[in-house]
Amino acid sequence: MEKVTLLLVVFAASSVFAQHQHHDQEHDHSVHRVNVSVYYESLCPDSKKFFTQQLYPSLQGNLSEFVNLTLVPYGKSKATFEVTDWKFECHHGEAECYGNRIQACALKRIDKGQDSPGLGYNKVAVGFINCLMDKADKTAEAVFPTRDCALVNPVSNLLDIENCSNHTDAFNYMAVFGRLTDQIQKPLKSVPTIVFNDQYKQEDNDLAQTNFAKALCQYIESDKPAECSGVSVTVTSGLFALLLALKMF
Ligand SMILES: *[C@@H]1O[C@H](CO)[C@@H](O)[C@H](O)[C@H]1NC(C)=O
Ligand SMILES: *[C@@H]1O[C@H](CO)[C@@H](O)[C@H](O)[C@H]1NC(C)=O
Ligand SMILES: *[C@@H]1O[C@H](CO)[C@@H](O)[C@H](O)[C@H]1NC(C)=O
Ligand SMILES: *[C@@H]1O[C@H](CO)[C@@H](O)[C@H](O)[C@H]1NC(C)=O
Ligand SMILES: *[C@@H]1O[C@H](CO)[C@@H](O)[C@H](O)[C@H]1NC(C)=O
Repeated sequence: MEKVTLLLVVFAASSVFAQHQHHDQEHDHSVHRVNVSVYYESLCPDSKKFFTQQLYPSLQGNLSEFVNLTLVPYGKSKATFEVTDWKFECHHGEAECYGNRIQACALKRIDKGQDSPGLGYNKVAVGFINCLMDKADKTAEAVFPTRDCALVNPVSNLLDIENCSNHTDAFNYMAVFGRLTDQIQKPLKSVPTIVFNDQYKQEDNDLAQTNFAKALCQYIESDKPAECSGVSVTVTSGLFALLLALKMF
């Protein structure tokens, strides 16, 4: 009986301590953010699916605070340098090249490429790009509904982004994205490719396609949000209930 009481005191003290610790770090997860890099293409059906069904929904809850996101809209494009300019050929044709360039300009030019406060990415840029991935339609006259997407996610410099996407800057951004893609895998085997903490792992990439949150959670070491521990939260509260019940006796 004494042992049970002691155990309860230790348990109560440690959970109070844990709560305090949690409170202190509540607003700054930047120390243990996971680097997430996504190598994809603006018109690739699997990229559209990953973005709109896995990545973007996962960023709507507390998991978002644990992500340092790098988007690389390039995929299986091929680059050549001709005389004075970069030229690209894209996996799904010329329209895709244009879509990749719009996204590149959005990433670099929305809030000057700065992260949103408290996050490891720019929320407006990611929302705008998610909308483009969702609504892009190869058969439409305007394949990418930039104006609609810029209204839903308040992009204040759309004209600059559109102008950027048909000028040298965009081609230079694509050349950088090409090098980043080559560094991870050359040639890139599948699109999209998702990489955690800068280290390509086939099994992480496979899991991320259908359960991005689970793949990400493997890399979150402390202060895991509820999204990571549906099961263990239940186990912990079960244990707590048990201890409470013991105390009642
Ligand atoms: C986030 O990722 C970018 C690009 O890889 C990197 O430069 C930056 O250092 C990362 N930030 C943190 C906090 O890991
Ligand atoms: C479009 O971009 C080019 C190259 O950056 C720049 O010289 C030009 O002034 C821009 N035009 C507009 C209308 O912003
Ligand atoms: C940029 O180029 C694409 C195709 O290459 C074209 O459809 C689009 O209208 C151009 N945009 C602007 C703002 O010139
Ligand atoms: C994330 O990337 C940055 C920059 O490359 C690096 O300094 C940092 O250690 C990486 N974080 C992790 C957890 O690997
Ligand atoms: C996110 O965290 C806050 C505070 O830590 C909590 O109140 C909220 O329920 C969490 N939301 C989700 C979806 O887990």
